[in-house]
Amino acid sequence: MSLLSLILVTPVTVACSVAAYRLLLHPLSNIPGPKLAAITRLYEFYFDCILAGKFGFQIEQLHKQYGPIMRIGPNEVHISDPDHFETLHNVTNRIDKDQWYYRFVGSQDAGFGTGDADLHRIRRKAMNRFFASSAISNLEPSSREKVQKMCRRLQEMRKDGRPVNLSNAFRCLAADSVTYYCMPQGFNLLDSIDFAEDYNRQARTISYIAVWHRHIPIIFPIFMRMPRWFVKMTFTEGGLLAFDFQTDLARQSASAVHAENRSDISVLDGIINSEFLPESDKTVGRITQEARTLVGAGSETTGSSLEMIAYHVLANPPVFQHLRNELSETVSKFGQNSLTSYSTLQHLPYLTAVINEGLRLSNSVSGRLCRVDHHNAQLYKSYTLPPGTVISMNLRSSHTDPSIFHDPLDFKPDRWLKDTESKMLEKYFIPFGRGSRSCIGKSLAMMNLYLTTANLFFHFVPQLYETTLKDIEMEHDFFAPFPPHESKGLRVILK
Ligand code: HEM
Repeated sequence: MSLLSLILVTPVTVACSVAAYRLLLHPLSNIPGPKLAAITRLYEFYFDCILAGKFGFQIEQLHKQYGPIMRIGPNEVHISDPDHFETLHNVTNRIDKDQWYYRFVGSQDAGFGTGDADLHRIRRKAMNRFFASSAISNLEPSSREKVQKMCRRLQEMRKDGRPVNLSNAFRCLAADSVTYYCMPQGFNLLDSIDFAEDYNRQARTISYIAVWHRHIPIIFPIFMRMPRWFVKMTFTEGGLLAFDFQTDLARQSASAVHAENRSDISVLDGIINSEFLPESDKTVGRITQEARTLVGAGSETTGSSLEMIAYHVLANPPVFQHLRNELSETVSKFGQNSLTSYSTLQHLPYLTAVINEGLRLSNSVSGRLCRVDHHNAQLYKSYTLPPGTVISMNLRSSHTDPSIFHDPLDFKPDRWLKDTESKMLEKYFIPFGRGSRSCIGKSLAMMNLYLTTANLFFHFVPQLYETTLKDIEMEHDFFAPFPPHESKGLRVILK
């Protein structure tokens, strides 16, 4: 055989052998699923990178054909069974996050991206005091001030009667809230004239780049090492903004690490001051990763949840009226200040039902959550999944299961008002995940959702402007949900 034939034949032989092993001899070969997905990750690459965030949709379709468990990668199974969620996502087991999957954020050393369960526990401990309920109560004046600022801006815009983009307004509010708390310097996007249209576009660009980075992990480092003039010349405006935004996070992280008199006010400063972390966890690189994931995890999620809540309230006039009545009664009973008191708002049943329903339908973390138990085999029904198997589940399959949430795609706050039904639903209501890897920012997010929803619908009578469900519904799953590219977001005329 000539050298050339050897060079050509060897890779083909190796690929065929690997494919045959994965199909016939691999410990997961008995799990149903598409053969191509069992052979190669290129299956996922095609749906997520080439078709732009479509693998989640494909998984949903495939479950209809293959049942609640199926193999979606050479070493990964996906389970669609709401009753199994807590078996995997709880506080007692020591299950890791899958490093391959979570590298999409380019932050495997941040709390969010850390794979190893024990290492994660230490990194999370360094942030816990900032996200405990008492700390979040202290933050209430700051959240209130931001909601009031957004409302003042909306009042000014109401005067000229032009459409207002609430999708952008909500994302500015969320980003200001999280950056003022987590970073030494907040972003102040609520002051920008058009509610930072361009900034919000970059979130989409960076999320799509992140999906590519999962498969080709040199994309982020290359992107961030490019000279700015080159990015400006070759990328869209969103790409340039994404670049500037990431550069600013790195700059702030570096100055926090090197500060001579560091405060203990922002989460980032607190992490660097933490007694739980070794010095090796306080480098500029790692702190930048924490900054990136905190801001990323806190902004788009809160923004898209608010967008979903507001859209459905406005598209359902009886819901809007019911909510207004509850808010008006609260103000007549407890005075105008009750609208800015989180402890009062939390106890309003209809407002709570509206927020729950918005969180259920928005699935602001739309990507699958990939876990791996490196120590023990995991069981699912009659299947034994050996140690090292990646097991993924998503939130959407619980939230849209018709046997739990009847008419699952309809916005029905009333389902949360019946005591016994609501108790049952709560078991399957998991917008913030569950267990040791659940959302650390839940209390902050909930406070912002309550304050914003109450104030928006008490002070304004917005009317939808050229907006349908299509403009806010997920068309691309980049771990966070994004609507069609041409969507202009949730636009309203304010009355
Ligand atoms: C409505 C708003 C929010 C929703 C629905 C949400 C949802 C979630 C979910 C489902 C997870 C688990 C992700 C996974 O397992 O991969 C998560 C994790 C996380 N979230 Fe949130 N989140 C929200 C707001 C926030 C905010 C405001 C912050 C903080 C500033 C935040 C910071 C984080 C962090 C750091 C993690 C990783 C936690 C860990 O692994 O220890 N999130 N979030």
